[in-house]
Amino acid sequence: MEELYNKLKDMFASSMKVVAFSGAGISSESGISTFRGAGGLWSKYDPLVYANINYFMKDSSYYWNFFKNERYPVIKKAKPNAAHNALATLEKQGKIYRVITQNIDGLHQMAGSSNVIELHGTTRKINCLSCNKIFSMDEVYKKLEHELPPRCSCGGNLKPDTVLFGESLPQHALDQATLAANLCDMFLVLGSSLVVYPAAQLPIIAKENGAKLVIINIDPTPMDDVADLVFHESASKVLIKVISK
Ligand code: APR
Repeated sequence: MEELYNKLKDMFASSMKVVAFSGAGISSESGISTFRGAGGLWSKYDPLVYANINYFMKDSSYYWNFFKNERYPVIKKAKPNAAHNALATLEKQGKIYRVITQNIDGLHQMAGSSNVIELHGTTRKINCLSCNKIFSMDEVYKKLEHELPPRCSCGGNLKPDTVLFGESLPQHALDQATLAANLCDMFLVLGSSLVVYPAAQLPIIAKENGAKLVIINIDPTPMDDVADLVFHESASKVLIKVISK
């Protein structure tokens, strides 16, 4: 195992433009459940009901109950963990030039990463679908104490600034992420099952453009066999080794 860590350190040392690509796994050690793998949210909640735009537009009460009981309480109190902090350190050392995240929890920014691309948006901003007024998570959580689904003062429906199944990704974010995947010389996957597209296309684009592909994920992924290095370990454990001298 030590040899694998040394190979990773050497890869970092010889790379100039490293992109980190994170999924729900990097936030699991901050107390936020993953969607797939052991105890994943989608084993308890049907994403076609709880995280699908068509269902949301028909009846958003399922989503808002999920937000109120499952997501808000853990995201509200979540703090960046050692993996988020290590990425911020590596950015300050000039090693990582972009963080592309599928996560909506804002923990990379909280840890100090400044070049973060939120492919699936953020739950920290909630918009009125009629007048575009923006609410915070806390304001909407308060509304949920006496109204479900929560409404804007204009009467409009509210929706977090996140990408639900059936929605397109924010084009600017996808363009920026695709450019980063094309330009990097090392693409580091951290805590993603790599099964949701178009996000999961990014490691393939990087690899096809000659970048080294490193996957750090507790469970095997469909891209393990094309990766240059694979760690079935926790992201924090591996990254702490990388930044330690
Ligand atoms: N370190 C590394 N990997 C971990 C850790 C950890 N501490 N904890 C869990 N994992 C791994 C699991 O093995 C799992 O394969 O993280 C992966 C998380 O996979 P998913 O839950 O599928 O998360 P993600 O890949 O981000 O899902 C993509 O699917 O439901 C949609 O919009 C949602 O953005 C999400 C997208």
